[in-house]
Amino acid sequence: MAIDLRGAPVLVVGAGIMGAGIAQVAAQAGHRVRLFDTRDGAAADAKRKLAATLDGLVAKGKLVADAAQAASARIEPVATLDAAADARLVVEAIVENLDVKRALLRQLEAIVAPDAVLATNTSSISVTAIANGLARPQRLAGMHFFNPVPLMKLVEVVSGLQTDAAVAAAIFDLSRAWGKTPVHAKSTPGFIVNRIARPYYAEALALLHEQAATPQVLDACLRGAGFRMGPCELMDLIGHDTNFAVTNSVYEANFHDKRYVPSLVQAEMVAGGLLGRKSGRGFYAYPDGAPALPVAVHEAPATAREVVVHGDGPIADALEAAATRSLAAQGWGPARERDSGWTGLAIDDARLRLTDGRTATEIAAETGHANLAVFDRPLVLPAPAGTALAFGVADGASIAWRSQAAAWLAALGFSPLPVADTPGLVVARTVAMLINEAADAVQQGVCTADGADAAMKLGVNYPAGPFEWLARWNVVGVVRVVEALDAAYRGERYRVSPWLRRRAWGPR
Ligand code: NAI
Repeated sequence: MAIDLRGAPVLVVGAGIMGAGIAQVAAQAGHRVRLFDTRDGAAADAKRKLAATLDGLVAKGKLVADAAQAASARIEPVATLDAAADARLVVEAIVENLDVKRALLRQLEAIVAPDAVLATNTSSISVTAIANGLARPQRLAGMHFFNPVPLMKLVEVVSGLQTDAAVAAAIFDLSRAWGKTPVHAKSTPGFIVNRIARPYYAEALALLHEQAATPQVLDACLRGAGFRMGPCELMDLIGHDTNFAVTNSVYEANFHDKRYVPSLVQAEMVAGGLLGRKSGRGFYAYPDGAPALPVAVHEAPATAREVVVHGDGPIADALEAAATRSLAAQGWGPARERDSGWTGLAIDDARLRLTDGRTATEIAAETGHANLAVFDRPLVLPAPAGTALAFGVADGASIAWRSQAAAWLAALGFSPLPVADTPGLVVARTVAMLINEAADAVQQGVCTADGADAAMKLGVNYPAGPFEWLARWNVVGVVRVVEALDAAYRGERYRVSPWLRRRAWGPR
């Protein structure tokens, strides 16, 4: 039977960062909200702060004074849970501890009506486990908000094994009525966002571990791909202790699956108290943050007798347009070869190729072109002038080709950043692994492809969702990058998702 929670009295338990935000959103949506916290005065404090926040919105012209006053008046701090016995929805946002959450919810069951809905804002504990021991485990679902609650649109509506579909649907509809974008998720480690986002951090940490690039270069490359923050500056912002704890919890909850293994680089930073912004020092020193990258100086101009643009598709087209523009000054233009099976430029005897996952050294050995470089996947097309782009040069290449590879990428409009000749470079590797993780999540029924896209765009501000990237790339290309990583590193980390592999073989 459908459950309608719109307008229902709400009890929020835990008046910390998240609980206060949830109370604000519920009150602004017209609910009567009771707020309870075990810490003396915490609920009253939260109410005072909320009133100030609402007044601030009025001062900025974002809210009319009457609405602010009314919302504020709807929030009532209570000294006991019994005072909120008529609540039809309880949202708990207390300490992240299974036993404490279980005990609270068991206590609440004895207070609220049998048909009241219980929601947990847990970010990492199994909803199935929290429900275990309740008289009516089917009435508990996860209602996972993101910080800051009033601003972040995403709500993961998490179903445990026993959650009634009508309860999940009621929380989904209510979240929408509160102006949020809800996404259904199955209770699995990290739910959607905290799981699919792992490779964003993990691949950067892996590249740092093998000294392939500096934090500045990695950040510049991923910003160039459209991410609002690079992985290193983002980990500094989140706090390495928090980020490391989430990685550890996903790793442990997956029975130490090497896919999610935490990084020694980050463990050492946490151990040393280099926690990021909050401690004044992480990958960067604060308040300054990341120093600007030195501007690349290309001593030699890009020169050639003959240029052929290879490959089909939008990246090859963009390369052709850029090469045409660049060579026009010299009064000639590039040729085009569409069926060669690789994308990039043949510059006389040298090759400047879009990464297919393999290293430049490996491709050089296979093709016999010693002067070979691979460049990273441009995600934004046409790439704005000066977009940072990583490249790697084959071990046996000449000194002259090393500087020519950079000069040609600059002539094509990029800001070339040299990195070690690693499989999948920076962006291709990171995005392929994000897509791979999202594909596994969909195959395992954690969420739909649309749900994953919405969650990643709204929960962590990704410029596109993993399945949107997949649609612009192609499944065989993504599988090849993950396979190249697997071939290079072995072990379980770079397993191709069966969901992707099936599509790589089947009709597309
Ligand atoms: P917080 O520490 O700011 O607030 C927790 C509040 O709960 C405190 O005021 C504490 O006194 C109170 N509390 C503890 N045990 C209680 C009990 N048994 N009964 C009543 N009140 C109790 O923590 P925060 O950050 O608001 O997190 C709360 C929950 O939300 C956790 O489960 C956390 O994992 C989850 N969460 C946190 C996010 C964040 O970015 N901080 C994001 C999404 C979820």
